[in-house]
Amino acid sequence: SGTIQDRKADHLRICLEDDVQCHRTTTGLERYRFIHCGLPELSYDQIDIGTQFLGKTLQAPLLISSMTGGTEQARIINQRLAVTAQKFGLAMGVGSQRVAVERPELANTFNVRTYAPDAVLLANLGAVQLNYSYGLEHCQRVVDWLEADALILHLNPLQECVQTRGDTDFSGLMAKIETLCAQLQVPVIAKEVGNGISGSLAQKLINVGIRAIDTAGAGGTSWARVESERAEDVKQRRLGQTFADWGIPTADCIVGVRAIAPEIPLIASGGLRNGLDVAKTLALGANIAGMALPFLKAADHSEDALDTLTDILIAEVKTALFCSGQRNLQDLRHNPVLQRID
Ligand code: FNR
Repeated sequence: SGTIQDRKADHLRICLEDDVQCHRTTTGLERYRFIHCGLPELSYDQIDIGTQFLGKTLQAPLLISSMTGGTEQARIINQRLAVTAQKFGLAMGVGSQRVAVERPELANTFNVRTYAPDAVLLANLGAVQLNYSYGLEHCQRVVDWLEADALILHLNPLQECVQTRGDTDFSGLMAKIETLCAQLQVPVIAKEVGNGISGSLAQKLINVGIRAIDTAGAGGTSWARVESERAEDVKQRRLGQTFADWGIPTADCIVGVRAIAPEIPLIASGGLRNGLDVAKTLALGANIAGMALPFLKAADHSEDALDTLTDILIAEVKTALFCSGQRNLQDLRHNPVLQRID
């Protein structure tokens, strides 16, 4: 019947079973290589990849990006992700909580605070909902349910175009975001969903009170492709295929945002697939790095698979620091450790 709950189930199934990543557009991180240091003058065990984010300490600079909620499968996935976030000291986002605003009995499929009492947890709504009757009260409600440290507003114009009967009125949203940022009790973060945020858009968002940016650039999961897979009619299907590789590559987003806002808390995401990708984004100036699809696939499998994935990511990040001679993330961000290779 096309309820939001059906859509959430479709998204999980399609992302787990189909090829949903960009084919031609890449993150751009392959254009950078670490300058190897043959004598790091460090002990591997001294390397510290802890960092502060939104006033809390993360043991590793990793975010489990916003994904799901609203179904029984989603509840289990969120629970496993939260256990991992707590165990490894990571940050975690939940998927858009709109389905729970419409049906409060589904809020429990998102509300993972009991599994992650110390983690940075991020609530999530589509920014465009501010044009479809949502306001401060709805935003505060989803934050309170999750006991969230911040609210992510996702910006997804392409996804809404490809989705059948998507919400495509984005007019006047900047002013509504400004009002919300002034009134909400927690910081508001702006995030794309895989098509990226440019430096100039980041500047405008920061000017209206957005407190952190998540690039969610192109090169990984393509929401045009996901929505194309579930489109009912040929027009929407074709739209999604045509725009499957649309967007600003993740590396370009990071460089672009850092150029205009040297201090804004910056989350790199979109197509990061290992800890070396993560380390490159941090060297380019990001504070932490997010991944969606890799954590989803592990979470769908088991808690053990999540432990294994996270262990590997941490070892990859540490190895990149060690072999480029950097002791911590501050040094990594400020020393010239990358070489461009195009
Ligand atoms: C997402 N993503 C997402 N983002 C968001 O802000 N709200 C949401 O509800 C969702 N839902 C969602 C479901 C699933 C199954 C996936 C895989 C992803 C987008 C996600 O947070 C991320 O920005 C993109 O997927 C790009 O990152 P990856 O997948 O390339 O690492």
